[in-house]
Amino acid sequence: MATTDDSAAPRGTFTGKVVLITGAGSGIGEATARAFAAEGAIVAVSDMSAEAAERVASEICSGGAGTALPFALDVRDGAAVAAMIDALVSRHGRLDIAVNNAGIGGSGVPLADIPEENFDRVMSTNVKGVWQCMRHEIPVMLRTGGGAIVNLASAMGLVGRANSADYVATKHAVMGLTRSAALEYSALGVRINAVCPGVIDTPLIQVRAEKPGFLEALSALHPIGRFGKVDDVAAAILWLASPQSSFVTGIGLPVDGGWTAG
Ligand SMILES: NC(=O)c1ccc[n+]([C@@H]2O[C@H](COP(=O)([O-])OP(=O)(O)OC[C@H]3O[C@@H](n4cnc5c(N)ncnc54)[C@H](O)[C@@H]3O)[C@@H](O)[C@H]2O)c1
Repeated sequence: MATTDDSAAPRGTFTGKVVLITGAGSGIGEATARAFAAEGAIVAVSDMSAEAAERVASEICSGGAGTALPFALDVRDGAAVAAMIDALVSRHGRLDIAVNNAGIGGSGVPLADIPEENFDRVMSTNVKGVWQCMRHEIPVMLRTGGGAIVNLASAMGLVGRANSADYVATKHAVMGLTRSAALEYSALGVRINAVCPGVIDTPLIQVRAEKPGFLEALSALHPIGRFGKVDDVAAAILWLASPQSSFVTGIGLPVDGGWTAG
């Protein structure tokens, strides 16, 4: 397993904190894993791709840049999620922060044309996957002194968009899970928030990049005049997980270049 001795980790805002990130083998999750590790956290790098999880964890560990453990699992599999959290708690005694980031894109067609299997896949990954994670993370956090959860919603968790009904529905559902759980658990010591990114330049948006006008139309959504970067989102996630946001719970923080301001 790719880990380094905990004493090798740098000191920072999250020194000694145990952080779980799903979908950390690419894009926003990978950048967030690196950012937490740079601030001293012990990071569980979890992804459906074992190879991606191993790569990110070993790159974090190499040269003493941080402490990371790879986990290969599908967030739709509740038993696998529970086993990962058990393994993490057996080894490090606690879970302080969870970033429920694993997600996939939608079909990119009008609602009536969405294939049923696509609808089921995006719902089970983006909604059931977040619920599977939260339902196993929260009891452990309650047992070990509280914590902070940050879910990946989207600007499309706040507004609708044509040709995106399946994806939009999943991200509105993530907001629903976030707000409702915040009402249930904030007084018990677990803050629960979401980030709502605009379009971020990751492999997820490259899927339809060859479609004429696709990237131009997405770019025009952002008054700030550019796509977001993975580090823009990672910075917001770290803030929501940090003591600096101790009075913030139940929100969806837009990180969207002004998209949802209009
Ligand atoms: N990129 C954007 O523009 C954007 C905007 C708003 C929200 N988001 C959300 O941010 C999150 C991360 O997106 P990204 O752009 O970094 O995507 P990405 O495709 O770069 O990375 C997603 C990672 O999740 C993993 N994954 C997918 N399904 C999984 C499953 N069932 N179990 C475990 N791991 C799984 C993939 O293997 C991949 O490594 C997603 O929830 C996405 O909806 C992305």
